[in-house]
Amino acid sequence: MSDHGTPTPMTSRPSGALQGIANVPGDKSISHRALILGAMAVGETRITGLLEGQDVLDTAAAMRAFGARVEQHGPGEWSVHGVGVGGFREPEDVVDCGNSGTGARLIMGAMASSDISATFTGDASLRSRPMSRITDPIALFGARAHGRENGRLPMTIVGASNPVPVVYTLPMPSAQVKSAVLLAGLNAPGQTVVFEAEATRDHTERMLAGFGAEIVVEETSKGRTITLTGQPELIPQDIAVPRDPSSAAFPVCAALLVKGSDITVPGVSQNPTRNGLYTTLVEMGANIIFENPREEGGEPVADLRVRYSELTGVTVPADRAASMIDEYPILAVVAASASGKTTMLGVKELRVKESDRIAAMALGLQANGVKTEETDDTMTVHGMGPGQVPGGASCTTHLDHRIAMAFLCLGMGTQSPVSIDDAGPIETSFPEFVTLMAGLGAQLVRANR
Ligand code: S3P
Repeated sequence: MSDHGTPTPMTSRPSGALQGIANVPGDKSISHRALILGAMAVGETRITGLLEGQDVLDTAAAMRAFGARVEQHGPGEWSVHGVGVGGFREPEDVVDCGNSGTGARLIMGAMASSDISATFTGDASLRSRPMSRITDPIALFGARAHGRENGRLPMTIVGASNPVPVVYTLPMPSAQVKSAVLLAGLNAPGQTVVFEAEATRDHTERMLAGFGAEIVVEETSKGRTITLTGQPELIPQDIAVPRDPSSAAFPVCAALLVKGSDITVPGVSQNPTRNGLYTTLVEMGANIIFENPREEGGEPVADLRVRYSELTGVTVPADRAASMIDEYPILAVVAASASGKTTMLGVKELRVKESDRIAAMALGLQANGVKTEETDDTMTVHGMGPGQVPGGASCTTHLDHRIAMAFLCLGMGTQSPVSIDDAGPIETSFPEFVTLMAGLGAQLVRANR
């Protein structure tokens, strides 16, 4: 959906200790992939724990438009009757990916090696994001793209009628680009090879193997080479989507900030391609205990017991960026209440997320009394120490769910309330956020009431 309607301003008031259990929703990355690969398998894939955020609902609608039967049977319970690799039909209308870069980019890849055309659009945020990172590699398969200047949506992709396999080195660390190339490779004969110098989230590789594709991953000190044999018959799966570590980051960090807090967040992924935030928080002195390590839905998970902690600033190395790329906004919030400065290196990709996240966090933190510095590729937050952040300002969220949730968490631990101009985008990834945080004791109120 391209328009989430009238903005919903919201205020977060300094809160008492957060207590209880935070059951965060299903993983967004895995939910998109379950729907897309389900649509490319022959037969019925069943999914439990699917995230029912707007981003994923938009991908479900897109898979219907490409010919799959996608049905909801209960909360988080879905089925996808796939049309097989190469079986997509041409959508009758424009495919609207709403706010979702992952949805748009993965689906463009998935259809690029079929002899069909599709026109993609999205909301104002998605229409401003770079798509050449997808149209460049899919052109190698034989697909063509016609979009707005600088490779922006709306854009029509004319899929390749005779796709050829591709060998591609990722020009930036991006799981979306890697996944788009692998999904395009599914319908190309022969072997498609992707090389990534830095490991990005590996859900596509794991799930492709689960669906029966021939995929080989070689790790060396220089990076990862992924080789996929094209034109497999994908076998439908039962997929249990694990909880989203990127959503878990918000209650975890809020508990670290608010004095006296003691919460448990069950089933948080410990997949090394996703857990950089937790490594960083522990380095900062966070009291987090990783209980009951186990496997769920093919991912290593643990229950996180998190208690209020007085944190110290750290330098976050560039080679950790890919494993915590969505967590920098909430890390910047935690860093504001730490003692000493936190410097985040190698974070240029944050400038092309749902918003320019370095700029959005810097402006909002400064408005609330925190000193920050930035370069194109780094951000530094000068921590003021526990309980010392003044707050009191309103922040602009730029249609970015993670900026919205980060500033609402900031307000839980500041001296005066913090407001945001629009909580609407939170629907895209974590529809239960406000209820869940209120259940732990946070005070979040619609600002106009
Ligand atoms: C995602 C990859 C990351 C991440 C996004 C989800 C995915 O984007 O920021 O929220 O599911 O593949 P990039 O590939 O642009 O780094």
